[in-house]
Amino acid sequence: MSIVVLISGTGTNLQAIIDSGLEVSHVISNISEAPGLLRAEKARIPWSVYPRLQNLEKYTTEICKQEDSNYIVLAGFMRILNPNFIHEWNRKIINIHPSLLPAFKGNSAIKDAWEYGVKVTGVTVHYVDEGMDTGQIIAQKAIRIAGNDTLKSLEKKIHKVEHKMYPQVIGQMLTGFWPNGIY
Ligand code: GRF
Repeated sequence: MSIVVLISGTGTNLQAIIDSGLEVSHVISNISEAPGLLRAEKARIPWSVYPRLQNLEKYTTEICKQEDSNYIVLAGFMRILNPNFIHEWNRKIINIHPSLLPAFKGNSAIKDAWEYGVKVTGVTVHYVDEGMDTGQIIAQKAIRIAGNDTLKSLEKKIHKVEHKMYPQVIGQMLTGFWPNGIY
């Protein structure tokens, strides 16, 4: 059982997945300078770069079939995938988002939640559909914002939760073990 991971950036979630021992058959990025690619290289995981989305999707499909990979895991992948690709891999593409969806969709979720003044935010793992952060929710963890938190400390808390939760949830999906989705 293995997964393909799609990234665009730092790849700290990719690192957490690698460190957890989950089998990553390939890492694919749309950005050639994504620091996450170095993490793949260091872990001796094959990686590729496809700046054009259509090519990236075509290659991801090929790799998944070739490697018999079970899930396509988005870890800081910053593009919206095409509907055809999403339908082909229905309920096989998952993403992690740094808020309690459906609140604070989009790519500045932590800052948006902070500026809104919410007292509880969190992390969501969800299936990917055609929308942005709109797919069915798989698992969530709530995080309390304390009176002495800053945006920086909140970011730290959220990333810490992500790095523990994402590998756990993926591992459970791969083995077919379903807890209640609350972490
Ligand atoms: C994470 O906060 C994740 O929730 C969001 O993008 C960020 C990726 O960070 N989708 P990294 O590249 O894994 O460090």
